[in-house]
Formats: sequence, structure tokens, C-alpha cells
Amino acid sequence: MKVLILNGSPHKKGNTSFIAEKIKEVYAFESDTCYAYDIKDPCRDCKKCFEGESCSIEDEFTQILANIDTYDAIVVATPLYYNQPTGSMLSLLSRFQFFYGTNKKPKEKKAVIVVTGGGGSVVNSADAEKTLRIALMSVNAKVTAYIRSLNTDSIKAWDDETLTEQIRALDDIIF
Ligand SMILES: Cc1cc2nc3c(=O)[nH]c(=O)nc-3n(C[C@H](O)[C@H](O)[C@H](O)COP(=O)(O)O)c2cc1C
Repeated sequence: MKVLILNGSPHKKGNTSFIAEKIKEVYAFESDTCYAYDIKDPCRDCKKCFEGESCSIEDEFTQILANIDTYDAIVVATPLYYNQPTGSMLSLLSRFQFFYGTNKKPKEKKAVIVVTGGGGSVVNSADAEKTLRIALMSVNAKVTAYIRSLNTDSIKAWDDETLTEQIRALDDIIF
């Protein structure tokens, strides 16, 4: 099993990264991690892909798009910013427009959504999760599991005792 991990946090040692790393550690799958804050270019709707050409942007993510069928699952992990994925995560996901433009349907894969928030209510992750599900549809990924740590202002992810069980529950569903 090979997994693509998309990380929307600016903090490589923050709450979101802690959870993404924990999932990796527990399931020991082969993986590639892409940090949204390291990928500077969003899709600019240049329409090159509509002409059957490869993405006009040349960076690390272009390679990931080209190799999408090597992944069996995607983990999308992001903090909530104003109840949505971070702007950098949305910019990164805009690059999936390549599949729409080229009319390519990647092989079906499962996806896990990981959301962290400072705030404390499950209700406030619903909008972000909907947005992520829509973006993941364009890469033929179906969301089958969620991990939430939504009170990080008070309880950091590494102190969140619910996470062990949430991560363990991925066992049958995805990995
Ligand atoms: C600009 C901004 C907007 C935020 N908006 C929300 C929000 O709407 N809801 C929430 O629960 N937390 C919000 N937060 C808090 C972060 O989601 C929270 O601190 C998160 O756990 C940070 O994850 P990280 O440590 O992986 O970066 C916001 C933080 C920032 C910087």
C-alpha cells in the first residue's frame, strides 16, 4: 500500500503534522508527503491541460499528479482556518484541476480527512470536510474516514487521548 499524504499546516512539528506522522508510524505504509506550504503555485486556470498538455507548472507536485495512479490512498490533513482548510491546502488541491482538464480519471482510491482546530466543536469541521470531499472527487478518491482533533488551543494533538482510538479505527476502513 502506497499513500499520498497532503499536509496543509505551516507547522511541520504542529498538531496536524503530529497526527499525519502518527498514522504513518502506526500503519508503516510506503508514503510520499507533500507540504502545501512548500508548493508555491496554485492552478491559474491557464487551460494548457485542456489542450491535452501536461500541467504548465513544473514543480514537485506536477510529478505527484503524473504518478497519481501509484497511490492506493490519500490522507489529507489540514488545520481549520475560518472553518475551512488552510488557503495553502486549497491552493494545492486546485492543482487536481489537471485531471478535469485532461479528462483523466485516476484509479479509485480511499481517502482519510484529518482536521485540527483550535476551537472545540465538531460542527466547525463540517464545512471544511465538505470542501475536501469535493476536491478529492476530482482525483477519484472517496473519503472513508475522518480524524478530528478540534480543541488544540486547550489540548494539543500529542495530548489528545481520543486520537489513539481514532487512528486505530482506520485499520478496517482503509489500511
Ligand atoms: C488564520 C487562522 C484561522 C483559524 N481559524 C480557525 C477556525 O475557524 N476554527 C478553529 O477551530 N480553529 C481555527 N484556527 C486554529 C487552528 O486551526 C489550530 O491552531 C490548529 O490546530 C493548528 O494546527 P497546526 O498546529 O497543525 O498548525 C485558526 C488559526 C489561524 C492561524
